Amino acid sequence: MGFYSEKVVAHFRAPKNAGIIEDADGIGEIGDPSCGDFMRVFIRIEGNTISDVKYQIKGCPASIAVASVMTELAIGKDLDEAILLTDEDVLRALDGLPEEKIHCSVLGITGLRKAIQDHFMRYVSGNKG
Ligand code: FES
Repeated sequence: MGFYSEKVVAHFRAPKNAGIIEDADGIGEIGDPSCGDFMRVFIRIEGNTISDVKYQIKGCPASIAVASVMTELAIGKDLDEAILLTDEDVLRALDGLPEEKIHCSVLGITGLRKAIQDHFMRYVSGNKG
């Protein structure tokens, strides 16, 4: 079994941006059926920019570090930049994860993409009426 990098340990011990955003502009939910872990991502959009990201999570130490670093990667990015973030970006920002924990990196970016997708769906349906 591999070891966690110092960055993973730091994010796990003091996760950044945990919590919820009231009246979020988009919410994404993602679970990993293989382990039962779950994450809900909230985003705040100002203009075309993600001004804030928060999350609730029930997960392993790696998934908590992934969620934390995902917020750092996404905050301040325009939507078209944020949608291009990948699991590899998360892994790079954490200096990697042990092989058996790489699947945990999927939660962060998928949750973010779902929140962005939710934002666009709200925008489209909001314009209808
Ligand atoms: Fe489930 Fe890490 S073991 S996300």
